[in-house]
Amino acid sequence: MATTEWTRRRWLDWVVKAAAFLVTALIGLPTMAFVVLPAFRRSRPQWLKVGRLDEFRPNEPTAITLTFQRRDGWVIRTVRRTVYVVVKPDGSVKVLSNICTHANCAVRWEHQKRAFFCPCHDGYFDLNGKVISGPPPRPLDELPHRLQGGFLFVRV
Ligand code: FES
Repeated sequence: MATTEWTRRRWLDWVVKAAAFLVTALIGLPTMAFVVLPAFRRSRPQWLKVGRLDEFRPNEPTAITLTFQRRDGWVIRTVRRTVYVVVKPDGSVKVLSNICTHANCAVRWEHQKRAFFCPCHDGYFDLNGKVISGPPPRPLDELPHRLQGGFLFVRV
């Protein structure tokens, strides 16, 4: 008789523990996922509309400041990024970063010199972003772009 009660008690004990484990898992796992998973989320590249292509003058780089949201884990921040749109006389387009490839200073287009100028260490880049002089080790970065319905889109 004692053996039967012991078995029933053990079985009941096991059922209570299993139910407790199940309830904990059902509540705890989604909660943990809700708290932990955002830490691994990153923004995907996005396409931003820059403007009508016919608004840009050929051979005259135009500075455009793009504003967009970027997610990095739990942090969502507003990013402002300046790019230069260069439309060639043949209609081809380049979208250049304004960040110097030497030490990340902001370059600017110097109309009189017909070159991008980096004031930090006197770096110069031509209309295509290629290094003319100074310490920059490589050309300005080019951003992917596409034309759609007469509008220019840039991927950031
Ligand atoms: S950061 Fe541009 S030349 Fe040094």
